[in-house]
This record gives sequence, structure tokens and C-alpha cells, in this order.
Amino acid sequence: MPDYRRRAAREAMSVRLDVNGMMAEAIGQAGVAEEEVEPLAARGVEAAHALQAKRAAGELPFSDLPYQKDALAATKALAAEVRAECDTLVVLGIGGSALGIKTLTGALETTRRIVVADNIDPWTFGALLDGLDLNRTAFNVISKSGDTAETMAQFLIVRDLLLRQLGAVEYTKHVVITTDADAGALRQIVHDEGFRALDMPAGVGGRFSVLSAVGLFPAAVAGIRVDDLLAGAAWMDSRCQDAKLWQNPAHLLAALLHLADTHHQNIVVLMPYADRLRGLAAWWAQLWAESLGKAETIEGAPAHVGQTPLPAVGATDQHALLQLFVEGPVDKVVIMLRVEDHGREIPIPAAYADLDSLGYLGGRGLGQLLNYEQRSTELTLVQQQRPVITISLPQINPFTLGQLFYLFEVAAVFAGALYRINPLDQPGVQASKRLTFGQLGRSGFADERATVEAWVARKRAEYIL
Ligand code: PA5
Repeated sequence: MPDYRRRAAREAMSVRLDVNGMMAEAIGQAGVAEEEVEPLAARGVEAAHALQAKRAAGELPFSDLPYQKDALAATKALAAEVRAECDTLVVLGIGGSALGIKTLTGALETTRRIVVADNIDPWTFGALLDGLDLNRTAFNVISKSGDTAETMAQFLIVRDLLLRQLGAVEYTKHVVITTDADAGALRQIVHDEGFRALDMPAGVGGRFSVLSAVGLFPAAVAGIRVDDLLAGAAWMDSRCQDAKLWQNPAHLLAALLHLADTHHQNIVVLMPYADRLRGLAAWWAQLWAESLGKAETIEGAPAHVGQTPLPAVGATDQHALLQLFVEGPVDKVVIMLRVEDHGREIPIPAAYADLDSLGYLGGRGLGQLLNYEQRSTELTLVQQQRPVITISLPQINPFTLGQLFYLFEVAAVFAGALYRINPLDQPGVQASKRLTFGQLGRSGFADERATVEAWVARKRAEYIL
């Protein structure tokens, strides 16, 4: 395809950010005034240059994932092997090692069954295992650290099951491990037992890893067009290069949300008007929460910042949460995701023409109704002077999802720069992991065990009803 036609096709598939509903012009005092944006725009240029320098120095490796051709080729080749061998792929992983895959398989059509087992509830995990035909099932164990208790426990159970049912030769063929290229127990196990494996790129944390083998391998096994996913991310990358705030969708999104926080709007709702994007809202909630919820600035000063992300879905939550959004405290920004073409329409039959309360529906479509509802809710929020942003997708496809992943990832990093915190670590998550290791008696974690025991001993019986 000639370049000009490819560009036109990409423009037509571009995700669009509409921030009219954030501005004071539309919603008065709760909104952002142009004068407030100006100083931030100057700070934003500085932050943009600092991030560009970091990227050039290789310190933001997630941002280069759309261009890793060798890694992509290896991932696709292994996915083709596994597609030929199995009908079901079970992903064992949690947090950033699961949510991106759930987003992809929840949003796009798949030609293999992909199940993401991202919890250790014995009831659901047991039911999953009970229903599998192990001869036609592969397991993808994903853990960057290689020592997350939940994922490792699942792995031990599955390995034991495979060994018992398929035997000591066959069992390794049913496991693919995605982990750090050099470090951790899982990498050691790969070397010792000969499992097929993929690398998690160095310096890319779980929540920024969906465009690496973490998301791409299960997606390719599922038959999702991973090249389009990466092309979408690269397209968004090209749109996010501009240091000028009003030209850069990710930086503008981050800056406006940061400004909203200074107005005490510290809850951000992501509300897709599409069931297929429920997974994206959950993925984004983790990204926003783990990246921005931090105790300290990069200089080590107390910070305790971060906006609380709240996933919702339209139209369902118009009948559950919307009342609070419209009339409750002015502490929220609602980001709506609008899908112009749902890829399928179901016409609503014309009937009961004589009943005003029903007759008007006839001849419309369900997708059309959903989009009218999105527009009505956006305006209801504006009328009640509640901040709202609308992100529109022409369709739900790998190219638009790639754009959204990249948009939100860059926005999280840029927001981190505005808050002056490190968006790439998660010390609070590590703290909980350590206490679990202590309770389970892992060596080196005796202090953590004692701390948990002391907490339990300190509990007062009269406070337990
Ligand atoms: O985003 C993150 O870094 C975390 O949510 C991790 O993905 C999660 O804790 C799982 O860690 P690991 O991949 O090391 O098992």
C-alpha cells in the first residue's frame, strides 16, 4: 500500500481525545481554565524533553516495544507451534502479567480458547482444571520476577498435574514460560527442565508489558493480529512526540487529569460504552493506580499522591453509579470511551407504534442506542458541571487497542513527571508480597512473619464482632 494511503487509513482509524467537557468554558469552576493550562504547558515542555532524553538513554524501554522486530518474530513463531498443538491456552499470571491479555481476549475475536487464571481462589481454579483436556491444553506461565506466590503456586499445581497425567517426557511440551531473560527462579527452571520460553524485556514492569511477549504471545495464539496492535501503538507514539501540550494526546490527558487533582477531583472513572472494553478499564485502573499512587517524590520528599481509578461500563452503570457521578461530590473526572462502529448492529423491531414510551425505539439499532446514551450522559455531566473527557474509537480492533494501550502508558509516565514521582516502581505491592512470603515460611523473611504474628496478637477481641 502506498504511504499516503496507509497514512489516510491510519488517520481514519485514529483514536480521538475530546476534552471540551473538562474546560471551565463548558462546566464553570469545576473545569480547567486556559490560564491554568499555560504554566503547565511550559512545565510540560520541560517534562517532555526530560522523558525524550530518558527514552534516548534506554530508560523507558516500554516505549520502544512497538519496534522490537526480533522479539516479535520469536513470539509469533512459538505461538504458531502452540496453535498447532492445542485448543486451549491457560495463562497463569497476575496483575500486569494478566490484565493486558484479559483486555485483548475480552475485546477481540479469538480462534483459540484463551483462559486467564489470575487468581488463586481454589473454587474457580479447581473448576478450571477439572474441565480441561490436558492433551489439548497449553499453559503460559508469566512472571517477571519469577517468584510471585500466586503464579508460582498455580505453576506447581499445573506442573504436578501434567507430570501425573502426561508423564515425565510429555509434560514440558505443555508449558511455555514468559519471564525475565536472565534472573529469577522461573528462568532457572527453564534452563533445568527445558521448557519453551520467551523473554520479558529488561526494565519493563508488568503493567507496561502488554506489547511485549507477555501480551503478544497469548494474543498470537488466539489468532489476534499482533502486527496491527503494534502498528496502532507506533501510530500513537508518532502522535505523542510533540512537546507542545495541545498537540500531544497523552500529555494533554495527563496534564488535565493532574490539574483536576489540584481541584480535588482525585477519582478518575474510565467508562467504556462497550462490554468488550471492560477488560481495558480494569487494565487501565491497575496502570493508573500502581504507577501514580506513591508515598515519595523522586527527591525523597513525602508525596502521598495518586488518583483513585474507578472502572465502570456504559450503559449498565448509568443505572448504578451515574447518580453519584452527577449529584455526589465534585471529586471525579469521568473518561468515556465511545465506539463509533460496534462492528455489529441489532435492529430494534418497530412495534407498539401507538405507545409513545416504546414506539420511538422501532427502526433504531442497539449500537445506535448505546451511542446516543453515551452522548446524553456526557451532556448530563456537563450540565451538572462535572468534568468529562470523551475518547472515541472508530472501531474496536487491534489497531485502536494498540493506540489506547500506548496512549494510557505514556499518559501515566507523563503524569508521573508532573507529580514528580517514579511511575515505574510499585514498592507498596512488594511490601504485601514480602509479608506473604513471611507467613508461608520462606527463608529470609522471618522478620515479616514475626510482624504478621505481632499484628494478629495485638488485635483486641472486643473489636471483633
Ligand atoms: O505491574 C506490575 O509490575 C505488577 O502488577 C506485576 O505485574 C505483578 O505483581 C506480577 O508480578 P510478576 O510478573 O513478577 O509475577
